Amino acid sequence: MSAPARIGILTISDRASQGVYEDKSGPAIRAELDRLLASPWEAVVRVIPDEQPLIERTLIELAGPEGCCLVCTTGGTGPAARDVTPEATAAVCDKILDGFGEQMRAVSLKSVPTAILSRQIAGTRGSCLIVNLPGKPAAIAECLGAVFAAVPYCIDLIGGAYLETKPEACVAFRPKGAAKPKS
Ligand code: MTE
Repeated sequence: MSAPARIGILTISDRASQGVYEDKSGPAIRAELDRLLASPWEAVVRVIPDEQPLIERTLIELAGPEGCCLVCTTGGTGPAARDVTPEATAAVCDKILDGFGEQMRAVSLKSVPTAILSRQIAGTRGSCLIVNLPGKPAAIAECLGAVFAAVPYCIDLIGGAYLETKPEACVAFRPKGAAKPKS
């Protein structure tokens, strides 16, 4: 059996990292990934303040030595002075995948007008896909659900782990003939 896929869950929040309040968004990401994924996976969890150099260092570590094929960040995507998650993500990515942010905002805007305030982006660094999610726990399932069907094939294309979804939660799209790698 192949090793479980490693997935980074990175909460970016001054207050959660200081213990002023409990981090609810990181656990919401874990719960949503458990709902979506059929293949074995393990979480690599970090909670850090909104400091751009630290966010960049943490993303580099998760995508590199920690071996994550996917990193979901939560928080720091808005317009406030300390919201710098998209800048940190862009700084460490090789390629930006604009469709992820467009789709997540389009779906979120159907339920909340302030979805337009999120500058969330996604991109690849080596064999890792990094996806920004807003800080609100309620946004997690909505945003991940809006894009997840394309996530496994994206990770195939960049040479990451082969992810399989639970069909009742999400039908992952892979073009006909896309090969399942031998593990
Ligand atoms: N997207 C969804 N799906 N649901 C939400 O409640 N909140 C919005 C937006 N996107 C929201 C959402 C709000 S109020 C803000 S300020 C921005 O995300 C940025 O949030 P962040 O700075 O915590 O990342």
